[in-house]
Amino acid sequence: MTRPLRVGIAGLGTVGASVVRILERQSEAVAQRGGRPIQVVAVSARSRSKDRGIDVSRVTWFENPVELASSADVDCVVELVGGADGAARDTVETALSLGKHVVTANKALLARHGLSLARLAEEKGVSLAFEASVAGGIPVIKTLREALPGNTVSRLYGILNGTCNYILSRMELEGLTFQECLKDAQRLGYAEADPTFDVEGYDTAHKLAILTSIAFGTEIDAEAIYVEGISSITPLDLAMARELGFRIKLLGVAERTQTGIEQRVHPTMVPVSSAIAQVLGVTNAVTIDADAVKELTLIGPGAGGDATASAVVADIADVASGKAQPLFGRPVDQLETAPRAPMQRHEGGYYIRLTVHDRPGVAAGVATRMAEGDISLESILQKRSELAATKDPHGRSGAPVPLVLITYAATEASIRSALDKISGDGLIAEPPQVIRIERE
Ligand code: HSE
Repeated sequence: MTRPLRVGIAGLGTVGASVVRILERQSEAVAQRGGRPIQVVAVSARSRSKDRGIDVSRVTWFENPVELASSADVDCVVELVGGADGAARDTVETALSLGKHVVTANKALLARHGLSLARLAEEKGVSLAFEASVAGGIPVIKTLREALPGNTVSRLYGILNGTCNYILSRMELEGLTFQECLKDAQRLGYAEADPTFDVEGYDTAHKLAILTSIAFGTEIDAEAIYVEGISSITPLDLAMARELGFRIKLLGVAERTQTGIEQRVHPTMVPVSSAIAQVLGVTNAVTIDADAVKELTLIGPGAGGDATASAVVADIADVASGKAQPLFGRPVDQLETAPRAPMQRHEGGYYIRLTVHDRPGVAAGVATRMAEGDISLESILQKRSELAATKDPHGRSGAPVPLVLITYAATEASIRSALDKISGDGLIAEPPQVIRIERE
């Protein structure tokens, strides 16, 4: 039989241990797919004594992942260390420079240094595979890169962070607080080491940057992404969304517009009847709008050891087979440098929750400013404040109450300018909550 592919695994956390287990359990199927056996010959992790439920007693142990990457016995380095720089970057650069293949789940590394790493891999004629870096077990990179050459993609959007979707789902369905849900997500192993990466949208942005490049044939441009997280979402927003026929999801959206490529990550109102609104818990989903297939939605586990390891193992089988694909769908020097579409020119519907002083003329004042900005309102919802009504049955108390507006399509710039004027008019008691609406 052909010479085995000798694999070194750098990082033996939840995903690394699952990779070892799956390679053992599925050894025959993976060898058939890859055309040769796969052998784990080396591992690297901080603690050697920790019980991971796997037997790595017969493989070479490295304290330092860069040494593992330099080992002459390793043909393919699986980088599961994490982080955009430091040990992860050193390990990957060392392996590629020495002409070794690399498989990684590291979205931050790819988002920040994907272009230079791809160049290095091309120069050395080796693979750099990263299916596991986006949406865990969902084969979205393979789908975009290998299954859709007959299509021009116009937009893609998705739930790319399991932790945020888990938090928003439980807050909505069980009425729990943000903090309670975040703690559970951490306990279940979904969240990043620093959970602000999840809840402030950076993890989604890293994944979106990778998908955008493959979908549109453009150079990775993570800096261009507009990012907002979910920490400002309140139970009141979730209740209002439900009343208005929406659910709130943290979406990553990439779209080719007339001004360039728009990339944004923010909490988003999606119609409750849409496919993406049905995706609950840690599950991820990506919808691709393309001219031939029209709309394609992939749904599956976006985090967790086995699901992510499933994607890593598929990449290892690809490396073994020697069928390397251009990393971002085309050779690096043919990737476009696309203009960035500025967020101020984004156009869409908006949910705006104002906390207004409850007195005559306030709703009219708000509506006037919206009309001046040529913003058309689809619905207005004001909640009666029981307390204010008891004190003043004529509605002149001035007590703060929520006033929710849903707009038809408007530009970000016009919405921001109208809100500045409303604030300047002294009509609101708190900064407004603004959530963009994404329609199918
Ligand atoms: N923290 C990530 C998530 C894990 O919650 O989706 C996978 O990248």
